[in-house]
Amino acid sequence: MRHIIDITDLAPSELDALMDTADDIMARPEAYRERARYKKLATLFFEPSTRTRLSFEAAMLELGGSVIGFASADSSSASKGESLQDTVRTVSCYCDVIAMRHPREGAAMAASLASEVPVINAGDGGHCHPTQTLADLLTIRREKGRLDNLTIGLCGDLQFGRTVHSLVHAMSRCEGVRFVMISPEELRVPEYIRAELERDGVPSRETTSLEGAMGELDLLYMTRVQRERFFNEADYLRLKDSFILTKEKLARAPKNMCVLHPLPRVSEISPEVDSDPRACYFKQVKCGKFMRMALLLMLLEG
Ligand code: NCD
Repeated sequence: MRHIIDITDLAPSELDALMDTADDIMARPEAYRERARYKKLATLFFEPSTRTRLSFEAAMLELGGSVIGFASADSSSASKGESLQDTVRTVSCYCDVIAMRHPREGAAMAASLASEVPVINAGDGGHCHPTQTLADLLTIRREKGRLDNLTIGLCGDLQFGRTVHSLVHAMSRCEGVRFVMISPEELRVPEYIRAELERDGVPSRETTSLEGAMGELDLLYMTRVQRERFFNEADYLRLKDSFILTKEKLARAPKNMCVLHPLPRVSEISPEVDSDPRACYFKQVKCGKFMRMALLLMLLEG
């Protein structure tokens, strides 16, 4: 049985195949309408979500399957003190695949050990978020026509931003990729990721200046400062507006740079940027649903 805990659980050739399938679903949605008939997805969300949960649910419905689940820990037996293992073991008796989000790092891995069906990690604390990376990869491939030879700026909360961690894992496997990590000192990318980049010989540099980095980027991946992972509110308030992408700052960027953001945004991208042709974050939302459809098919059909 196959679980998707991080993006490296999928080989590069499988990622290519998922992107091909997603492109095909976009082109011929009617051919996929019955593909998951009589199959059930359970969405177990112990943490808030709009895009990830609803795109998983829309994906399963568009494949002709059905959906059960809960959207908060309060409405599950976790609030009565049930262990994650018992919840997952139970739910896996009712469905064919599980997508789970949980505030604790490693929760998806723990769930997979208790499950009788495939578990997809829809975000585990500040650790990983592989299906957001699927959305990111398809967006990049559709916009830039390639995944290799790119200079990628990652900006904002690189310490707690789980989408950044999974994206780095995926993109470091591509030829000629270089990272520019743009963050306040306190929110630098975790040490283990820096060590992995060094081990794999992937070029990267760190900076605190978004303006200074802008001119060299093919992609700018903005992120929200992850308030829910902070130990104290004062630190969050001090750091939350470290980087705000405005029209003026974007004027320094190459004409064909893409701005990505996993969303939700708070203040880090000014709404005036949305009408710039380089703003790709709502295209990313669309790609997310089609990649989740492709992933569900892969797990359900083997
Ligand atoms: C991200 C997440 O949950 O990690 N959102 C998402 O799934 N698109 C990013 C975030 O919450 O900042």
